[in-house]
Amino acid sequence: MTQQLPGLLDTETLRKDFPILDRVLHDGKKLVYLDNAATSQTPRQVLDVLTEYYEQHNANVHRGVHVLAEEATALYEGARDKVAEFINAPSRNEVIFTKNASESLNLVANMLGWADEPYRVDSDTEIVITEMEHHSNIVPWQLLGQRTGAKLKWFGLTDDGRLDLSNIDEIINEKTKIVSFTLVSNIMGTVNPVEAIVRRAQEVGALVCIDASQAAPHMPLDVQALQADFVAFTGHKMCGPTGIGVLWGRQELLEDLPPFLGGGEMIETVSMHSSTYAPAPHKFEAGTPPISQAIGLGAAVDYLNSIGMDKIAQHEHAITEYAVGRLQEVPDLRIIGPTTAEDRGAAISFTLGDIHPHDVGQVLDEQGIAVRVGHHCARPVCLRYGIPATTRASFYLYSTPAEVDALVEGLEHVRNFFG
Ligand code: ALA
Repeated sequence: MTQQLPGLLDTETLRKDFPILDRVLHDGKKLVYLDNAATSQTPRQVLDVLTEYYEQHNANVHRGVHVLAEEATALYEGARDKVAEFINAPSRNEVIFTKNASESLNLVANMLGWADEPYRVDSDTEIVITEMEHHSNIVPWQLLGQRTGAKLKWFGLTDDGRLDLSNIDEIINEKTKIVSFTLVSNIMGTVNPVEAIVRRAQEVGALVCIDASQAAPHMPLDVQALQADFVAFTGHKMCGPTGIGVLWGRQELLEDLPPFLGGGEMIETVSMHSSTYAPAPHKFEAGTPPISQAIGLGAAVDYLNSIGMDKIAQHEHAITEYAVGRLQEVPDLRIIGPTTAEDRGAAISFTLGDIHPHDVGQVLDEQGIAVRVGHHCARPVCLRYGIPATTRASFYLYSTPAEVDALVEGLEHVRNFFG
């Protein structure tokens, strides 16, 4: 029995944009794609732009005087304009293209790692993260700490999958140089209280870096409203291609901070003794950038805008509320993370009795249902809750209540299978 929920998008029409969603898998089972937090599917509108780019405009950017080079450059820089507008950046020069969110976060850690005062990170300073970060927002800071002697601190988690900010004034203190945290947890879906964290960071003069990988695809993102210094996200989770990430940074910081990668196109002049650098964003885009991928991301931004980020958020809220309710009807199922639809995104992790998540994932896959299993590159969360792994279902703009029902039925099948 399929539910009609208020606030849903017209998925019947929308799904026609995504050829892959029509796939029929083994034994004639129709694909039920619930692994959107890992990667989203790509609409025809983006695929068409990529094909047209390679068929008509392919060239290197910023380097040639010929027609194709000028067209490719205009398309690449046009994609930067689209992304800047999508996140309400004050300037297009604040949008750096990287290869993914991990590279964006590593870039911030390395800018700081090579910086002089007032940004210098050393053994008298502290770096703050949280226990619910993706590994890509943990490891770069561990590396920076090892290199500089800076101490790594973090916010722990409450039993219901939220940040424990009870000791915020102690964790973020006068020694804190940077606070880096996720806006939405990739494993639990928790939406974090940005304002409280940013306010405290600003009180002590610390920089703020936000991992928006699980937010940018799902809700309106306004970097000015967030009041952060850096915001990182990736293209392939928001209907774009793989191989393209974004780092937004405040212009003044991008002017002051040193580059990380050296090479072509990031320079102003080079001699055998020294070099001077191009202004941001090019200072941080050494070498041939991910050109077609950036153009594809620009097309994805157009696509998302044509639907409306508010409407996407509303759709996902309705699906998530329905899914959280229905999953809790499954005996022995424990949601790891918030069990309400408030302040949570569309990624829902759970355990099912003592059935190993890999077995759950395999039996679901046999029914055509694609979920992710494992620690989701957020192993500290699993350690915190005393579990080896979870099964994660994650929804997007094309997800339907019928797919939630299919998941719940699939889980009943898993339970029967394992007795
Ligand atoms: N970060 C991606 C995920 O959560 C890969 O699945």
